[in-house]
Amino acid sequence: SLRAFSTSALRQKEVENVTVFGGGLMGSGIAQVLAHEGNYNVTLADVTEDALVKGKSIMQKSLTRIAKKKMADQSAEAQEQFVKSIVDKVQTTTDAAQAVKSSDLVIEAIIENIKIKQDLFKFLDSKAPDSCIFTTNTSSLSVKDVAQSSNRPDRFGGFHAFNPVPQMKLVEIIKTDQTSEETFETLMNVARKMKKQPVACTDAPGFIVNRLLVPYLLEAIRLVERGEATAEDVDIAMKLGAGHPMGPIQLADFVGLDTLSHISKGWRESRVSTGEISADIVQESKLLEDLVAQGRTGKKSDKGGFYPA
Ligand code: CAA
Ligand code: NAD
Repeated sequence: SLRAFSTSALRQKEVENVTVFGGGLMGSGIAQVLAHEGNYNVTLADVTEDALVKGKSIMQKSLTRIAKKKMADQSAEAQEQFVKSIVDKVQTTTDAAQAVKSSDLVIEAIIENIKIKQDLFKFLDSKAPDSCIFTTNTSSLSVKDVAQSSNRPDRFGGFHAFNPVPQMKLVEIIKTDQTSEETFETLMNVARKMKKQPVACTDAPGFIVNRLLVPYLLEAIRLVERGEATAEDVDIAMKLGAGHPMGPIQLADFVGLDTLSHISKGWRESRVSTGEISADIVQESKLLEDLVAQGRTGKKSDKGGFYPA
């Protein structure tokens, strides 16, 4: 009976207010899709007003492309109105405490650095309601390690979206050995409400996608560094020879060379000695480090990365 169905349904938390930390590539995309597809009340928090303005402009551009495609038969005014309605729905703030005051769910998408993420969650733990679920969008860190600085390991999980968020249909939901079933089910449901396909993974290095993708991207960079082929030819080869939508060098620029460097360094420092990742996979690339040092962090930088911006 229906009654039996409803009582046996897995418990999940009601989510209305979602706070996203980090208005960069990922945070702005996550905030956009939460507001647009999920119809959530969304607050976007970052450390500076500039970063928030940048985040809003990323949303504006993305939504304009979506409007052009989905509202092709409607007037330019109607399209602009749609874009504005979503952008305006996302509240912005540089006050982290205020941002989580009545939050049901936090999605953290700040820099890929364990210490900085832990510091943020330690701070948020005393500011957010007890029932608020904390998640990290980390690419490569252990979710359990990130969770350690807060006192809610059962209400903590990984919520790993992909770049560009409005386009990529996947979210990996990471369950640590302490994540509760209720937290897990809630996160699966938020992903579905965002019209994404969730997949589950344990707290293993790189989860599913990055465990396979990051070694590939790093090896493509080293291939160019060894002078075996040009960046352009590597990209042509993987697009035409393996049917990928983007070549690996173009994709590395797209992901952010700084983010890729952080992932590689993080794995070198914490996953090699444990035997989880082999040393040759994360061997340092001088070319990658030099580009990052020059501020050539990829598509997000005015200076570009391997390719011009
Ligand atoms: N927002 C909204 N719409 C967008 C968009 C964005 N950011 N980017 C592209 N679009 C729209 C375009 O308007 C276009 O619409 P039309 O079909 O009406 O033209 C459509 O999407 C296709 O765009 P393009 O023709 O410009 O580009 P494309 O067809 O080559 O597809 C792509 C773009 C989806 C990004 C594709 O190149 C792709 O899948 N690339 C690989 C991306 C990838 O692997 N991402 C994962 C990175 S790893 C990661 O994220 C994990 C991590 O932790 C590091
Ligand atoms: P980004 O550099 O584009 O943006 C990071 C933002 O975080 C910046 O706006 C910065 O000002 C802000 N920030 C830094 N410290 C903060 C703090 N204490 N509080 C609030 N905001 C702070 O980075 P990104 O590419 O959006 O990556 C963010 C996270 O998402 C990282 O953990 C990354 O590994 C992960 N990720 C990245 C991708 C990708 O393809 N770039 C894909 C999936 C996951």
